[in-house]
Amino acid sequence: MNKDIKWGIIGLGGIAHKFATDLLLVENCTLEAVASRSISKAKAFSKKYNATNFYGTYEELVKNNLVDIVYIATPHNSHKRYTILALEHKKAVLCEKPFAMNNKQVFKMIEASKKNQVFLMEAMWTRFLPSILAVKKRIDEDEIGELKYINADFSFKANTSIQRIYDKKLGGGSLLDIGIYPVFLAYLLLGLPTNINANAHFYDSGADSQLAMLFNYKNAQALLFSSFNSTSKREAKISGTLGEICIEMPWNETDSFSIQKNDGKSKFISLPTMGKGYTYEIIECNTCLQQHKIESSTWTHQNSLELISLLDKIRKKINLAYNED
Ligand SMILES: NC(=O)c1ccc[n+]([C@@H]2O[C@H](COP(=O)([O-])OP(=O)(O)OC[C@H]3O[C@@H](n4cnc5c(N)ncnc54)[C@H](OP(=O)(O)O)[C@@H]3O)[C@@H](O)[C@H]2O)c1
Repeated sequence: MNKDIKWGIIGLGGIAHKFATDLLLVENCTLEAVASRSISKAKAFSKKYNATNFYGTYEELVKNNLVDIVYIATPHNSHKRYTILALEHKKAVLCEKPFAMNNKQVFKMIEASKKNQVFLMEAMWTRFLPSILAVKKRIDEDEIGELKYINADFSFKANTSIQRIYDKKLGGGSLLDIGIYPVFLAYLLLGLPTNINANAHFYDSGADSQLAMLFNYKNAQALLFSSFNSTSKREAKISGTLGEICIEMPWNETDSFSIQKNDGKSKFISLPTMGKGYTYEIIECNTCLQQHKIESSTWTHQNSLELISLLDKIRKKINLAYNED
């Protein structure tokens, strides 16, 4: 029988809590250690989620010999630093999205994974949801014909007192935080666009508060939007020559979708998720580690490089640069 995979978590903020809740639902893995910049926060977190060890620095966690894989849940601007730190200590890494600030940083992270021969994956959890897998399969099998149009957004009225939302030093802005999801969907279903148009509104800090994007393909177009200024229903629509798929709201964490064919036939497909849905990326990491892989074949290093390169191109269009560029 395969050994249980032992997880560590670095950065105990909002997403770390959701992730740890889902980790407890997955078989054949345990939470071995957690690390915060605050030892009391780490102690409380470890108690809540039954972690064996807790630390007051991230560096101590990556030195724990029992930890197989580290989940990095810190702000975007530190993803590269902590990913490479963990990989150099021969720990596998699942790092939150955006994988890093730009293509150059992601390239270095992948280089470190290859050099150390250790598994590395971007936490693009939507890629692994049963409904998204099913939508992709049906599109690949031509159920709605040739794709012509995608419309997807991710908007909510953000609490702008949260520094991570607007502070450029922490990688603030709607694109890297939530715009990455509609960009991901267009990339997953249509691949790399031939050209991109984009227009943004900005906070005083220079980070984008709202962003409209148009991806052009040889035979299709995608209209994408992200915003911290207002809340949207968060549906995704995918139109082909034979019909349309609507991914139910909020599409990036969906458990269902509907298909409306041009001939009048329609179907509603429900695929309930385990937990919040982070379980599937956890299972993917566990399986890859059991198989001694250094990358997932469902969300590859190349996929992450291409996704961040699209974000870089969009930022060029709206003149948004970060210190890391
Ligand atoms: N996959 C998803 O659904 C999802 C959802 C939300 C966020 N995310 C991603 O996860 C990452 C973290 O987001 P979050 O919403 O969890 O943020 P958050 O609530 O602010 O938590 C981030 C944690 O990172 C640590 N940290 C280290 N350096 C920091 C610094 N300079 N400033 C602030 N915190 C620092 C802190 O943990 P300690 O105090 O414990 O050290 C903090 O609690 C982001 O990259 C975001 O894009 C993903």
